[in-house]
Amino acid sequence: MTKARILLTRRWPAAVEHRLSRDYDTTLNTDDVPMTTEAIGAALNDYDAVCPTVSDRLPARIFTGDHRARIIGNFGVGFNHIDIAAANGAGLTVTNTPGVLTDCTADTALTLMLMLARRAGEGERELRAGHWSGWRPTHMMGTRLRGKTLGIIGMGRIGIATAHRARTALGMKVIYYNRSEVSSDRLTDLNAQRRDCIEAVLEEADVVSLHLPGGGENTHLMDAERIALIGPEGFVINTARGDVIDQTALITALREGRIKGAGLDVFEGEPQVPAELIAMENVVLLPHLGSATTETREDMGHMVADNLDAFFAGRAVPNTVS
Ligand code: DGY
Repeated sequence: MTKARILLTRRWPAAVEHRLSRDYDTTLNTDDVPMTTEAIGAALNDYDAVCPTVSDRLPARIFTGDHRARIIGNFGVGFNHIDIAAANGAGLTVTNTPGVLTDCTADTALTLMLMLARRAGEGERELRAGHWSGWRPTHMMGTRLRGKTLGIIGMGRIGIATAHRARTALGMKVIYYNRSEVSSDRLTDLNAQRRDCIEAVLEEADVVSLHLPGGGENTHLMDAERIALIGPEGFVINTARGDVIDQTALITALREGRIKGAGLDVFEGEPQVPAELIAMENVVLLPHLGSATTETREDMGHMVADNLDAFFAGRAVPNTVS
């Protein structure tokens, strides 16, 4: 039987590339150079499945006309880089990789929180630059997190996992806002209190952590007014999508001391990061590392492969998005 032709737009973990190359007629992006949107659009005519990542763009225009491709197997849980309505409208199934990156992304949120509160990046920069003059009682004092309030915006899988870590490992109190009701069995042992609106969380929390999908109505959900509600002693953490925060407004708020600091793993217009943000000491900046562990990236790849296997075997596809 002829094997389905599939395209991976970037290098994937070796074990997954091996599995897909064994089971499919697989084209690997051996140079790992990002593909243009036009090249991905053209690939829809040449392959049965195209497997992109968060750094690719698949807008509506590439889904017009007839295509050979029948499935987009996204390597990642977030899918705001794909016009899902256009893809589905063109008859393509789209899948993602939920669940397997929850723990690592929550770990990254905690990493940012701790680095920011304890000024870890700043301290490391000082030491590496040879500017550390020795221990002294007032040197680089940070903020103690125990007893502080964490405000989660978006209490899905990753929001809940972040809340658990903050409560059990750091001794923080947790409040949250989620558009829909979160069933109480998902919040066991968390003692988390729901607030009726985002503003209430921003006003009360010492640290705000964002766990919402990007795009659509979440674009610039954190605008200048909402950022200001966090207050001059508050921190904001973003491991979700860059466009959830109005980055220009955030930079202004940081510069003017209207919030104390920001821990960012995601940016508007990645991989570009504004020079002004890079120059600031009261920010911690990571290059979209949320899911970047060997174990998780392998799990994500295997989940894509499982989705493709189900699709091409005519079985129910587990992780479709619409
Ligand atoms: C995702 O999966 O959406 C992350 O942002 C990349 O792992």
